[in-house]
Amino acid sequence: LLSADYSVTAHSKLVIVTAGARQQEGESRLNLVQRNVNIFKFIIPNVVKYSPDCKLLIVSNPVDILTYVAWKISGFPKHRVIGSGCNLDSARFRHLMGERLGIHPLSCHGWIVGEHGDSSVPVWSGVNVAGVSLKALHPDLGTDADKEHWKEVHKQVVESAYEVIKLKGYTSWAIGLSVADLAETIMKNLRRVHPISTVVKGMHGIKEDVFLSVPCVLGSSGITDVVKMILKPEEEDKLRKSADTLWGIQKELQF
Ligand SMILES: NC(=O)c1ccc[n+]([C@@H]2O[C@H](COP(=O)([O-])OP(=O)(O)OC[C@H]3O[C@@H](n4cnc5c(N)ncnc54)[C@H](O)[C@@H]3O)[C@@H](O)[C@H]2O)c1
Repeated sequence: LLSADYSVTAHSKLVIVTAGARQQEGESRLNLVQRNVNIFKFIIPNVVKYSPDCKLLIVSNPVDILTYVAWKISGFPKHRVIGSGCNLDSARFRHLMGERLGIHPLSCHGWIVGEHGDSSVPVWSGVNVAGVSLKALHPDLGTDADKEHWKEVHKQVVESAYEVIKLKGYTSWAIGLSVADLAETIMKNLRRVHPISTVVKGMHGIKEDVFLSVPCVLGSSGITDVVKMILKPEEEDKLRKSADTLWGIQKELQF
């Protein structure tokens, strides 16, 4: 249903927000921020007015910051404001891992957490097939000493959006499938665990109200639980560094 009249959205259970300026060739996601905050100041109050009980699923970039912005503007409880976050990054990772191993991505397990995009964090300790840890078989996995160069897989994940934008001007299919996957979990109350953006204050030494991706139990009421990952000190350092960067930007935003 296409309309500029927000009343057509009344009583929605799930509202997916993809509006906003898109990345130009070579532009970082963080650069988009104030332009998209201004758009959100218009959209979010209108959505809330007609669907006060909806779940908000934010896709626009920079997604972790805009999820925070949507949370602040909406006044919703945090479990109903969700960022698509690293659901796409993790799917790309499992796809590339599957290509390397010759195994279907659904049987390849690996989680990318933290900030969507450039500063995302691959959790090498959790990468496995059938519960068999690749890091246990190959201790150099994900390090600079790794002769199999698994770090390249994460690098390719980070570069994929830039690559697609360079080739066709925008990204659409992968994020569309990734968001459809999240919508299915919510609408069918599947309670699957997804790497999506939620408030991480109090986790991994993070002290500010920032949104980052961690494994979340998702269902019809939104995010009900977070699966606490056991991360290496250097992985936690990266999350805290992202949190500092995001907070540095968030505290300057004009609402
Ligand atoms: N989170 C992710 O993984 C991910 C992946 C791909 C794209 N994105 C982001 O999604 C956003 C959209 O990307 P796109 O390629 O579809 O861009 P696009 O330019 O094709 O679409 C943006 C849309 O927003 C609309 N819009 C602008 N201001 C509006 C307003 N005030 N009210 C209602 N609609 C408004 C425009 O009319 C346009 O249709 C970008 O921020 C992009 O970075 C996120």
